[in-house]
Amino acid sequence: MDYILAPSILSADFKVLGQEMQKTAENGARYLHFDVMDGMFVPSISFGMPVLASIHNATNQLMDVHLMVQEPIRYIEAFQKAGADLVTIHLEACEDVEATITTIHECGMKVGLSICPETDAEMVLPYLSEIDMILVMSVHPGFGGQKFIPESLEKIRKIRAMIAERGLSVDIQVDGGICLANVRDVLDAGANIIVAGSAVFKGDPEKNTKDFMEILNSYE
Ligand code: DX5
Ligand code: ZN
Repeated sequence: MDYILAPSILSADFKVLGQEMQKTAENGARYLHFDVMDGMFVPSISFGMPVLASIHNATNQLMDVHLMVQEPIRYIEAFQKAGADLVTIHLEACEDVEATITTIHECGMKVGLSICPETDAEMVLPYLSEIDMILVMSVHPGFGGQKFIPESLEKIRKIRAMIAERGLSVDIQVDGGICLANVRDVLDAGANIIVAGSAVFKGDPEKNTKDFMEILNSYE
């Protein structure tokens, strides 16, 4: 299995975004996590297509776009044009999950399906064979810098078992409140893609990325 760090730029210094991304890419972070918030599905508003279009070539990282957006099917093509490689949608935000997954694949991108802390693991079962990644939210989506919800570990274990039982190879990404002190618990539970915002960009992003990568590399 591939163990990957996906720094979330929500906590980065936006006036030097390209440089912030480079600091993580040069130290081994293969994905760049791009949090889109619409003020409807989640209370806050972040950034969207024009920002992605401007930064997606700043590094060779995979652009991992997390759509915290109501009815994301409306924006799939626009994010593909802006440079997205992987688009994650929320199960709770889609009227037709199936059609949204199909649209992302038709646009030539990888599909992630995300569930909020209050959504049961079993809800992803009907889609498991059609997606590339499950995103388990370990905080309530909407803001960076929140505290990790410990019950997420059991949900990760359950989903990893569901994937293994079916002989599938689906990545499990975990997002929210991950830091150097708890990342091993998340990996031990079965996750292989780690999102970290404040734990990467607050302080020294180069050193923080290196410290995360040292742990992730020990799992290869
Ligand atoms: C929360 C976002 C996260 C957030 C993570 O709604 O989806 O990606 O930026 O930030 P930290 O790592 O600070 O919890
Ligand atoms: Zn996110």
